[in-house]
Amino acid sequence: MSSVNTTTLHTDPSLFSGLDVYAVAGNPISHSKSPVIHQRFAEQANQRMHYGRLQPEVDSFAQAAHSFFAAGGRGMNVTVPFKLDAQNFADVLTLRAQLAGAVNTLWKTEGKIFGDNTDGAGLVRDLLAQGVALHSACILLVGAGGAARGVIGPLLEQSPKSLIIANRSSSKADELVMLFAGLAASREVALESHTLADLEDPAKTQYPFDLVINATAAGLTDESPLTSNAVSNIFVPSSFAYDMVYGKTTAFMQQALQRGARVSDGLGMLVEQAADAFLLWRGAQLAKVIDPRAVLAELCIN
Ligand code: ATR
Repeated sequence: MSSVNTTTLHTDPSLFSGLDVYAVAGNPISHSKSPVIHQRFAEQANQRMHYGRLQPEVDSFAQAAHSFFAAGGRGMNVTVPFKLDAQNFADVLTLRAQLAGAVNTLWKTEGKIFGDNTDGAGLVRDLLAQGVALHSACILLVGAGGAARGVIGPLLEQSPKSLIIANRSSSKADELVMLFAGLAASREVALESHTLADLEDPAKTQYPFDLVINATAAGLTDESPLTSNAVSNIFVPSSFAYDMVYGKTTAFMQQALQRGARVSDGLGMLVEQAADAFLLWRGAQLAKVIDPRAVLAELCIN
């Protein structure tokens, strides 16, 4: 491990002999709740493991990941801004990671690095756990960056009636519609792209929506991607508004609350995507003994 800058490597597997070592890599990473989530899963499933943090420099993900796995690291979660780097780093990608265009979970088996993306499955499970019906639903996905792309496949697999992807700039939303057209057709889902400006026009698409998901980065700067005109078209009291950002009531969530809609932040998605990663690493049979909803409830109290 001598080649690694120890100021950015918080988890060196060689320091934890006898334990299987995992880590979450991101920059910044000190705020991450993943270590506490995985520690709780490990306790629930009686697994001897250590889960720490890595903060590679923004241009040094591959070097840090290589050092981590070379030192005996078993698996890694990957967050902003490294999900594309992680996809490039993996030797083998699952189908859903290929479709998502990003990797949030890595592990090493028989000398090869595998990459998967559990974000979309995590979102779907959190929505279902919150009682949101996805089958036959009219869904609006706001945003067309990496976060949006990662969840489109799993949402389509739930066979909603329609999925509208709306983005500030139209080209990225158009590209996503082209990319997922085959899957949408096979599930008989009406998949369309729109600009955010379109959402202000009551004639542009079918309103209101059962479910509106904010996958833009706007919440990070306390902005909402939706204008007040768009908000009055989009939400009714039976709508559910989901922001992938967690830890605060975002401007997007406030707009939905003002229209009487139910809202959620993305903490449940974080816990559920972590559960899938944990099961990939430690064995699917442990699904019977881990309890993501209990871990989520504990996080909400603390
Ligand atoms: P990520 O990987 O987190 O999705 P990204 O690929 O940079 O990040 O995408 C960010 C998304 O948030 C994009 O859909 C972006 O819209 P553009 O494609 O038009 O840039 C969207 N976004 C960021 N800030 C926004 C804002 N203030 N209002 C509306 N959309 C915003």
